[in-house]
Amino acid sequence: MKNIIHMKDIDLYNKRVLIRVDFNVPLNNNIIISDNRIQASIPTIKYALKKNAKVILMSHLGRPKEGEYCQKLSMQPIIQYLKKIFYKNKIYYSNHLKPITIQPGELLILENVRFNPGEKNNDEILSKKYANLCDIFVMDAFGSAHRKEASTYGVGMFAKISCAGILFASEINALTRALKNPKQPMISIVGGAKISTKFKLLKQLSKISDTVIVGGGIANTFLAIDYNIGKSLYEPKFIPLAKIIRAKNNILIPVDSRVGTKFSKNSLAIVKKPYQIQNNEEIMDIGDESIKNMIETLKKAKTILWNGPMGVFEFPNFSVGTKALAKNISKNQAFCIAGGGETINVIDMFNIKNKISYISTGGGAFLEFVEGKKLPTIQMLETSKKKHYVS
Ligand code: 3PG
Repeated sequence: MKNIIHMKDIDLYNKRVLIRVDFNVPLNNNIIISDNRIQASIPTIKYALKKNAKVILMSHLGRPKEGEYCQKLSMQPIIQYLKKIFYKNKIYYSNHLKPITIQPGELLILENVRFNPGEKNNDEILSKKYANLCDIFVMDAFGSAHRKEASTYGVGMFAKISCAGILFASEINALTRALKNPKQPMISIVGGAKISTKFKLLKQLSKISDTVIVGGGIANTFLAIDYNIGKSLYEPKFIPLAKIIRAKNNILIPVDSRVGTKFSKNSLAIVKKPYQIQNNEEIMDIGDESIKNMIETLKKAKTILWNGPMGVFEFPNFSVGTKALAKNISKNQAFCIAGGGETINVIDMFNIKNKISYISTGGGAFLEFVEGKKLPTIQMLETSKKKHYVS
């Protein structure tokens, strides 16, 4: 973090402070299903208000068609939510980008940035419009740290000064701590269904981990090296890479699985060894012997990095492995860092939020950071610091 300015290093008093938050929360009929991401940025907003800044918030929500208003993806439910938290502060709402006068200690919330033409492709004119709204730009949207868009990147390049918010800084610090100098042994867990986006992560983690436990579609791809795994989800094109990773590293692959004949919550779960799997069956969870092996391995961990479920945890018959590991991690003394959209859903589902050392708000951003990619918003903040101290 030494190359980035932290918002606490700047005098915010009476300044127009534009904070890019990631309030991309799941909604169902305008009801917020999980408020984790909003809660994560509340300390940043409270800090700016306490310092008597004129606070402006902006975020994206979903993936609307650019240039078109879409009522379902309006920020309105989030504004109503924020009104309950900041009931002592005046809150305004704006669906345009002309500068609006607000007083210190007041909040202005902008409409979904993805309604603005030019947002996704980091348009210069739009970026300058955002920058003109503020004296200080605060990047707090770690969940969007991998997006080079006008409200995450362009604005920061044109703002007078750009800095990291409290959440953004703590995400970078926690992830850096876990990755740069992890207390050994480090055990990583990589699961989930999005195989293609996870192989890079797996490669990176296998370099720094004592053991990588695999589940979900990733594990199936390893199993498919040696077995016919029926209808199970796996990625044939990653088999050569899986072979190399397995040969060079300690990869803990399931020795048994819970299989079903249809992808449905009513499907019966039968525990089978990989060589017993029939053509009409698919792996949807790990089996009991695998759970035992994985829990045994986790016992020696001093650091755990967890991304992804072991199976189709949404179906009770196939949530056994994910639940067993989640409960075990929640009791483990190791420093545990968890991240990724599905992982956060698992943590919510099994109610272990307070028992994980650090939960990242990032999905794609978390994965790209762990893969070792330089995120564009970090680059932008570094550029801003250099410019600021030269001028
Ligand atoms: C996320 O949910 O991972 C972030 O909010 C980024 O959303 P996006 O993938 O639509 O850019």
